[in-house]
Amino acid sequence: MKIRLNSGVSTGKPAPTLRVRGFDVYKDLLSPESQMALVVDLRGVIQQAPLFSPMTPYGRPMRVRMTSAGRYGWYSDRSGYRYERVHPGGQPWPAIPPRILALWHSVTGLDRAPDCCLVNFYDAEARMGMHQDKDEADFSYPVVSISLGDDGLFRIGNATRGGKTESLWLQSGDVVVMGGDARLTHHGVDRIKPGTSTLLRQGGRINLTLRVVD
Ligand code: SIN
Ligand code: MN
Repeated sequence: MKIRLNSGVSTGKPAPTLRVRGFDVYKDLLSPESQMALVVDLRGVIQQAPLFSPMTPYGRPMRVRMTSAGRYGWYSDRSGYRYERVHPGGQPWPAIPPRILALWHSVTGLDRAPDCCLVNFYDAEARMGMHQDKDEADFSYPVVSISLGDDGLFRIGNATRGGKTESLWLQSGDVVVMGGDARLTHHGVDRIKPGTSTLLRQGGRINLTLRVVD
């Protein structure tokens, strides 16, 4: 079942295509029109809250560029990883676009809205090391990930660091729900396959993660 976000009508909770280590993967959930509508929404977000390259707590700039929408945005510098109320430019984060909220409610079945939509932009060289999403107050809420643009090789590990992992390619329009017993499972992105999507004019991959923060 494809979700058509353009209509503004929630189509009910879809069934996942596959389940990998407790992550629900919805392949090709978003129609090309819905993907393009999200890109237009995100251009508006980035105009108000430009992408930036945060510094890791270890003093290295992250290769992934990011920004956020919502009551909180994700941020990192020498003092650590955390949520902030304002963009590093000092302005509040823009509101989460309604189409993105509709997608969250549809795949989670929750009434509660997310507090943060983290926007990660991967160029051809960008990757994201294995990590847990654990800066939120209540892990009973899932994290929802939406992929747009070039394919990304997503790796799923374990609740603890190390051990065997499984990888799958995430394509434009795929959605992953990381929740339940898998909420704290390690995951990362090993590489991007440039030129695999025409959605983004300049190429690259956008990943959105929606989280309840407090
Ligand atoms: C993340 O874990 O924050 C991003 C995952 C992805 O890019 O698919
Ligand atoms: Mn993550």
